[in-house]
Amino acid sequence: MKVVCLPGDGIGSEVVHVAQTVLRALVPEIELEEHLLGGAAIKETGEPLPPETVAACKTADAVLLGAVGLPEYDAADVRPEQGLIGLRRELDVYANLRPARKGAIDFVIVRELVAGLYYGARGEKPDGTVFDTCEYHPAQIERVARRAFELAGQRSGRLTSVDKANVLDTSRLWRRVVSELSAEYPDVELEHMLVDNAGMQIVLAPEQFDILVMENTFGDILSDVAAAVTGGLGLAASASLGDERPGLFEPVHGSAPDIAGRGIANPAATLRSVALMLEHGLGRLDEARALAAAVDDALVTTPTPDLGGSATTDDFAEAVLASVAEPARGTGQPY
Ligand code: NAD
Ligand code: IPM
Ligand code: MN
Repeated sequence: MKVVCLPGDGIGSEVVHVAQTVLRALVPEIELEEHLLGGAAIKETGEPLPPETVAACKTADAVLLGAVGLPEYDAADVRPEQGLIGLRRELDVYANLRPARKGAIDFVIVRELVAGLYYGARGEKPDGTVFDTCEYHPAQIERVARRAFELAGQRSGRLTSVDKANVLDTSRLWRRVVSELSAEYPDVELEHMLVDNAGMQIVLAPEQFDILVMENTFGDILSDVAAAVTGGLGLAASASLGDERPGLFEPVHGSAPDIAGRGIANPAATLRSVALMLEHGLGRLDEARALAAAVDDALVTTPTPDLGGSATTDDFAEAVLASVAEPARGTGQPY
């Protein structure tokens, strides 16, 4: 069982190192490799996604990512984020599951991850106008929508498709494709919601949602909003899944330059992403549940500063390690 780890930049390496220790404790036979991505890769090789990293990821059973992004590259032509965007495409992990859970709130954003505004034609016109475009082929919408219908079928059977069909042609295509598919999933109740209203509803009444599916950029923005109403970015995990190639498991948060290097990053989002990896990428459901329960406990006993506590990243890691080492491991929801 081989997992390729891509610590990346800033707090990415701090939280991935915790994840590696916990993974070794849970699955002693696991083989962990580390490769370069993002700013760390630019510094070493000049490019954000070195070919060796892509090759290693493609032969892995799963890929675990920390975060990419360094302020010094914000205005550069070659940027760390290009490495992550490129890797998602290489692995064709088109369905990004971003669960949001707290008390009565329990929904999953299914974010289309390898098309849309992030990947459409872009450039500069002779007059200096710069453009990015949102593009979708019906097949790209269909495959992510199927994932969302299937997930909804396994849960309460409610699916909200989010778009901006009152303005955008790609959204009208999105709505048509999703609506047509719904005939194949009679047990799933489909509703459409405009993205601006969806943002407000997630803030005001998040308990109404079960599964939401949406375009790449909409999903990026709304998943930070979802994180905010369920405890913050320190907790929000994600799984990016394709059909055959290995999944990519990554926290929703970034490299957090404001706290990087201080040893106070909350590793819970990454550990929950490891739980998703154990479940969806490695087929180890018992370990996934044990880890999810250990993280839930540590959040109560050993909170980091983002949650109002004073624990360090290492304190949190120790609490999780102690609880997964117990003979009677807990059973939590992997996400
Ligand atoms: P960010 O998610 O890095 O941080 C936003 C805020 O949340 C900051 O105040 C940060 O301290 C806090 N935060 C985030 N994760 C935390 C954690 N685990 N524990 C405690 N606090 C945490 O977003 P940003 O500041 O907008 O972006 C910083 C850089 O990260 C940028 O270069 C951006 O491109 C990159 N980024 C990368 C990813 C990724 O690799 N998946 C995701 C988002 C942003
Ligand atoms: C995320 C991040 C990335 C995205 C960036 C770093 C490319 O914000 O995973 O949410 O926009 O997808
Ligand atoms: Mn984001």
